[in-house]
Amino acid sequence: MDLKNIEWDKLDFSYRYVPYRFHAHWKDGSWDEGKLVTENKIAIDEGATTLHYGQQIFEGMKAQMSKDGRILLFKPHENARRFQKSAQRLLMAEVPEELFMKGITETIKANKEYVPPYGYGASLYIRPFLIGMGENLGVRPAPEYLFCVFVSPVGPYFKEGFKPISLKVETFFDRCAAHGIGAAKAGGNYSASLLPLKYAREEGFNDVVYLDPIEHKYFEESGVANVFFVFKDSTLATPKSVSILDSIIRRSLVQVAQEDFDLTVEERRIHVDEISEMAEAGACGTAAVITPVGSLGYNGKIYRFYADGKEAGPITNKLYKHLSALHVGDIEDTRGWLEEVK
Ligand code: PLP
Ligand code: COI
Repeated sequence: MDLKNIEWDKLDFSYRYVPYRFHAHWKDGSWDEGKLVTENKIAIDEGATTLHYGQQIFEGMKAQMSKDGRILLFKPHENARRFQKSAQRLLMAEVPEELFMKGITETIKANKEYVPPYGYGASLYIRPFLIGMGENLGVRPAPEYLFCVFVSPVGPYFKEGFKPISLKVETFFDRCAAHGIGAAKAGGNYSASLLPLKYAREEGFNDVVYLDPIEHKYFEESGVANVFFVFKDSTLATPKSVSILDSIIRRSLVQVAQEDFDLTVEERRIHVDEISEMAEAGACGTAAVITPVGSLGYNGKIYRFYADGKEAGPITNKLYKHLSALHVGDIEDTRGWLEEVK
């Protein structure tokens, strides 16, 4: 990708080739030290567990540039720990936190010209992933693993940016089973979401919000982000469930809402019939940042929130501004959430 041709303000959320990525191998019980490589293709045994049995996990993170030119990561150790939890659930070799951090920092530093400058609303998306490798046929954990990190400069995940999106409340399909791998960041959860997403888009929605896989009554999350709702009494609520991803942005949002904005926050089961009590809604995650949800489609009816679903509500708006400012270091990082890549 030619740096001179990048229009930082026009970036979307797509893969763009940059020169370096990081690879580390696990075999016979230990990791090698890993190294930067330039080739973006991987040779995989045809019987590898990642290809047949979905032994595959990933993470999503962002590096952003501060006004004074520092490259900042947001809570990267939390991603490292979640990556280990995902590995435990899929019985994969865990990547030690130091190796995870080395992989991401070396990849960012090697590609540092591709970190979008401050002020364009763009970032360097970081995609660490772990796959089961080696010769294999039966259903069992892989004999070898490959840990990779690649990066790509990106803009907003939803092309609308900070404009309200519409979500279809999915009453038929589930993204995961009740005690399956929904809490792990595993590829299988995303392949399961492709067909419901296609149908939702055909019906004019931007994405799907799933309901719990047992009763189909309680909100879970969307395909790529957690969700939150602001009720008419200004209480902010976000779904609690064992089958959703434990979003790092959601946890931060909850803390900011309570500590910096004095809002009442509830992490609880949220019944779908509570829609009529909601004043605002949003999706939150690394890629989605905070994306306002203007409307929900449920059982053939459209429920519109603030400004008839055309604008972000005031609470969503101030949380978005505050968290975005925190990410780029515009607000003092009193909680030690930011880590500079030097
Ligand atoms: N839920 C799903 C299914 C996701 O893919 C993501 C993205 O990472 C999230 C939630 C948000 O998690 P985080 O805030 O840690 O990025
Ligand atoms: C992220 O927010 O980083 C994600 O992983 C979502 C993604 C599937 C695009």
